Amino acid sequence: MRSRKWLWLVAVLVVLVSAGTYPLWTTWITGITQATNTSATTPQRHPLAADSRGSAAASSLATAQAIAQTQKKRPYRVELGTAVQLDVLTSETPYRDTLTSHFTSITPENALDFRWTEPGPGVYDFKAADDLVDFAVAHNMTVFGNGLVWYQAVPDWLKNGQYTRSQVIAILHDHIYTVMSRYRGRIDSWEVVNEALSNDGSALRDNFWLQKIGPDYIAMAFRWAREADPDATLYYNDYGAEMPGPKFEALYNLVTGLKKEGTPISGVGFQMHVNLSYLKPTMQGVSANFVRINSLGLKIRITEMDVRGLTGNGATQQQLDEQANLYGSMATLCMHTKACVALTVWGVTDKYTWIDALFHTEDRPLLFDRSYRPKPAFYAVRYALKTP
Ligand code: XIL
Repeated sequence: MRSRKWLWLVAVLVVLVSAGTYPLWTTWITGITQATNTSATTPQRHPLAADSRGSAAASSLATAQAIAQTQKKRPYRVELGTAVQLDVLTSETPYRDTLTSHFTSITPENALDFRWTEPGPGVYDFKAADDLVDFAVAHNMTVFGNGLVWYQAVPDWLKNGQYTRSQVIAILHDHIYTVMSRYRGRIDSWEVVNEALSNDGSALRDNFWLQKIGPDYIAMAFRWAREADPDATLYYNDYGAEMPGPKFEALYNLVTGLKKEGTPISGVGFQMHVNLSYLKPTMQGVSANFVRINSLGLKIRITEMDVRGLTGNGATQQQLDEQANLYGSMATLCMHTKACVALTVWGVTDKYTWIDALFHTEDRPLLFDRSYRPKPAFYAVRYALKTP
C-alpha cells in the first residue's frame, strides 16, 4: 500500500516536470524559502523599483547585482545591522570585508543626516548617501534610513535662518519628501523621528522642531513620510528606554497617542547604547518593554547597540565575556520576539566607535576589535541569531 502511494507521487511529479511546470514550482519553493529567510521589514520589493538618480548605467549594474544577490540565502530571520562610515568603507579593505561577510543591514552613521543631505536651503547633496545605498543594494544588504527629524542633525542655515512656523513646516515637508522619494524601493525602513523625548522622559525634548512647529511636528513627520513612501516601515527611535522606567513610559505614551490619532507609525527603535557597569539591560526588563510595544501592534528594532565600559590598557577576559553575555541576551530576545526584526550595532569595529570621541576614551564597545578580529560578543550574537 505504502509503496503504491510513492509510485503515485513519482508519477505525478514526472507528469508535472514533463508538462513544463518545473520552473513554476521551483520558483514557488524558492519564493517560500526566500520569504522565510527575509525579515519582516524586507517586503519583496521589486529590484527595479524607483531610482531617481538618472544614472542608468550605474543603476542597472547595481540592479543586476541586486537581482543576483537576492537569490542568495539570508542567514538569519533577524537582520544583523551596523552603522557604516562611508570614508572608512572606501579606504579600508578589512572594514569592507568584515561588513560584507558578517552583516545583512546598513545604517548610515552620518550620511543621511539632514545637515548633510540638505546643506543649503533647498540644496540637496546625495553623493555620500547614494554611494552607501548603492553599496548596500549591490551586496544584498538592507538599509535603515535615518536622520530625517533629529535635533542634532539640524543644519545651521535652518537653525539660524529666522524662519516662520509655516516656513519651517514647508522645509521639513520638502526634506522628508525629497529624501524618502529618492530612496523609495531601496530603503524600506526609516527612523522618521529620533530622540523627541527629553533625557529623563518628563517632557518632549525642548529642541528646534518643538520650538518652531510645536508638538505636532512628530505626527506631521510620520504623515509626510507615509505620503513619500506608502510601503516603508516607519519608526520612532530613542535612547534610554530599553528598561522599564520613566523614559520607557514616556515613549509608550507617545507612541500610544500617535497610534490613537491614526498616525502612520509602524515601529519603535531602541538605540541600546549601554554600559557594562550601569545602564545594564536585563532580559526580563527589556522583554517586558518589548511585550508592551508589541501589544500596540508595532514592530521593534534594536537600532544602535554598543556596550561600553571596557576601557584601560586591555579588556579583561571577564569584561569581554560580560559584554558577550549582554549582546547575546539581547540578540536572543530579539530572535524570540516575533515583532523584533533587526539588531543593529553602532559601528563595525572598536577602531571607529563614536564612543571614543564622545567620552575621550579608548573603549571596546562593538563586535570586532581594532584589528577586525571577532570578539566573544560577535560569537554570542551569531550563535543567538542562528538558534531558532
Ligand atoms: C552619532 C554618530 O555616531 C557620530 O558620528 C556623530 O558625530 C553624532 O551622532 N544617537 C543617534 C546617532 O541616533 O545618530 C548618534 O550617532 C549616536 C546617538
